[in-house]
Amino acid sequence: MNGAAAFSARFTECFGGSAGNAPVICWAPGRVNLIGDHVDYCGGPVLPMPIQFGTTVGVRLTEGGRVRGASVNRADIADFRLGGGSAVPDGSWGRFLSGAIAVLAAEGIPVAGADVLVSGDIPGSGLSSSASLSVALLYALTSAAGCTMAPLSLALAAQRIEHEHVGVQCGLMDQSVIVLGEPDSALLFDCFDHRHRSIVIDDPAVCVIVVDTCRTRQLVDSAYNARLGETRVAAAALGVGHDSLARLDVATFQARGPTIEDEVVYRRARHVVSETARVAQAASALEANDWTALGNLFSQSHASLRDDFEVSCPELDTLADALASQQGCYGARMTGAGFGGSVVALADASHADRVVKNAATTYTNRFAIAPRWFVARSLGGVRSLDG
Ligand code: GLA
Repeated sequence: MNGAAAFSARFTECFGGSAGNAPVICWAPGRVNLIGDHVDYCGGPVLPMPIQFGTTVGVRLTEGGRVRGASVNRADIADFRLGGGSAVPDGSWGRFLSGAIAVLAAEGIPVAGADVLVSGDIPGSGLSSSASLSVALLYALTSAAGCTMAPLSLALAAQRIEHEHVGVQCGLMDQSVIVLGEPDSALLFDCFDHRHRSIVIDDPAVCVIVVDTCRTRQLVDSAYNARLGETRVAAAALGVGHDSLARLDVATFQARGPTIEDEVVYRRARHVVSETARVAQAASALEANDWTALGNLFSQSHASLRDDFEVSCPELDTLADALASQQGCYGARMTGAGFGGSVVALADASHADRVVKNAATTYTNRFAIAPRWFVARSLGGVRSLDG
């Protein structure tokens, strides 16, 4: 998390101004999903946790319809006029900014102009930098306008940025944990009815390790949308709504699943149903500090994402297997959308260094890339930073 005073000074360097009109500064975390991948858009439960890295956004509202956005991490500046005029190019991070302003306008929170500075420190891919940016932008713009949004409305508004302005038909997992996550906790979130509760993770003997494959991710968005489309086909074949596919229990799926003619679609549905069952078991294991059971569920989840949902890749498989086979590691799995990105592992805290170093050696020998890693810790969800 960036220090607010240093961030404010950086903001003034970019946009001018004085102490009297200091920006509103907010921070939103990234997330690592412990278990429950590719079920959120089918109404399934998920168990993510916020991480200590995220996105800081500073906002000063202006008049006159001009929006200027600068990023500490990127050279491209977003500079556009509201209500037409200069369009924000596809693929630019400014799409998130113009999308946030459009979504807020639809929510009855108009922004007449703004200077916006963004800075992210999420170390690795597959850790929801997009949702972190979306939530931080919405929260900072809303705070600068003197308004507040209910947590779930904020999460849904952030999802709308991705759906309507970025082109990814994502579920609600990332936005919900980034808004609702609590310190030292994971969030059990039901994407069907939005019921949720935090589960504390504070056993000092065990740690959650995140290892980035550092593989360049390509075509993730189109592959993601394609998988989502296959689950729609599966739900239609089973005669249930898309947002209810994950509500089929294993026994019902075993009875009705074979009516799905397409073998690929059948496997996609099998993943959704089995992953949903694993999330419930994982929540119980986490509450009981039963790390062996939770680690086994991690490994089963990875196999299902690899074989049934086919969103893994050799890099993720190698890293997850290498981590899981180390003594002191309870289990490992790909986390998030897949096709590259990061692996999450559960290990004895006193063995974390050795577990990762040994696995990294195996990985680097095969792919000639050194993975990056950190031990995840939740500081909680989105918040304002005091200047
Ligand atoms: C991405 C999406 C989420 C979720 C995961 C897979 O992170 O943004 O909504 O679908 O992939 O679980």
